[in-house]
Amino acid sequence: IKKIGVLTSGGDAPGMNAAIRAVVRSCAFHKLDCVGIFRGYEGLMEADFKPLDARSVKNIINRGGTFLKSARSQKFRTADGRKLAYKNLKEANIDALVVIGGDGTFAGASVFNEEFDFPIVGLPGTIDNDINGTDYTIGYDTALNTVVEAIDKIRDTANSHNRLFLVEVMGRDAGDIALNAGIGAGAEEILIPEQDMGKDRLVESLRKSKLSGKTSSIIVVSEGDQIGKNIFELAEYIENNLTAYEVRVTVLGHIQRGGSPSCYDRVLASRLGVGAVDALINGESDVMIGIVHNKITSVLFKNTVKTKHKIDLELIRVADIISI
Ligand code: F6P
Repeated sequence: IKKIGVLTSGGDAPGMNAAIRAVVRSCAFHKLDCVGIFRGYEGLMEADFKPLDARSVKNIINRGGTFLKSARSQKFRTADGRKLAYKNLKEANIDALVVIGGDGTFAGASVFNEEFDFPIVGLPGTIDNDINGTDYTIGYDTALNTVVEAIDKIRDTANSHNRLFLVEVMGRDAGDIALNAGIGAGAEEILIPEQDMGKDRLVESLRKSKLSGKTSSIIVVSEGDQIGKNIFELAEYIENNLTAYEVRVTVLGHIQRGGSPSCYDRVLASRLGVGAVDALINGESDVMIGIVHNKITSVLFKNTVKTKHKIDLELIRVADIISI
């Protein structure tokens, strides 16, 4: 391997820049050329490439977003799109790829690898933490801190007005952000897609806590949760069935995707970026580099996407106990 291309794809995540930086610097360390590919697979199909040397990634470890930009590509899902991508890679003499993204990115990478036997390694970059084969994804820790900081602020006003707040957080179909940020922010209830609570049980539980002396409440709702899917309807239902509280809704939205990465995410991204180049040098391909029990590991792409990501049941128990 002489030249490695790097791209970011799918939803951006804090720490993606730190990961790109680690890939670029690791290439420089091993005397390999590195090429940045803009806008993910879209830029791959348009040959939107730029050579990157060690100095070209200075002052970005602390920056949110991704300077290579990102996209969710429909065209790369087609055989013609992938053929074009392969042709561009060959013409630019790029002989391996590092793709940073989530499950959609890896699904595309896996098909591409199968079709062209092209060396390709992935890094998990998503705030959702919904990838199998890694304990943490790049951006997740920063998103948790953003959510906790926001809920701390909401708590102040909730408490002043004796109100109940529903706070919607991201995570697509995974409840990791809701569960961990909910525990960290001291939420009263946490609604996640992996565990269906049901509206009646929710209202019953809120009624009990009101009777036990609580004057305000925070409920963290994952965007993928069944009863939380329409959070404004849920707010109305609670107000109609539990007159004790005035209810307000806050949808945190894309602030969870931005901001300077936490130290944990910067270190994780740096370790995984170095791990990706190591893996390619060692002849690995069709794998994602992840972290399991604090060790850098590789797992086949197909095993990152095919099985449903599981939630930690111990966390659910902890959340139930400490919100009494
Ligand atoms: O996968 C990251 C994520 O932020 C999810 O949590 C969310 O469901 C989705 O992306 C939002 O996508 P978009 O930025 O395209 O609206």
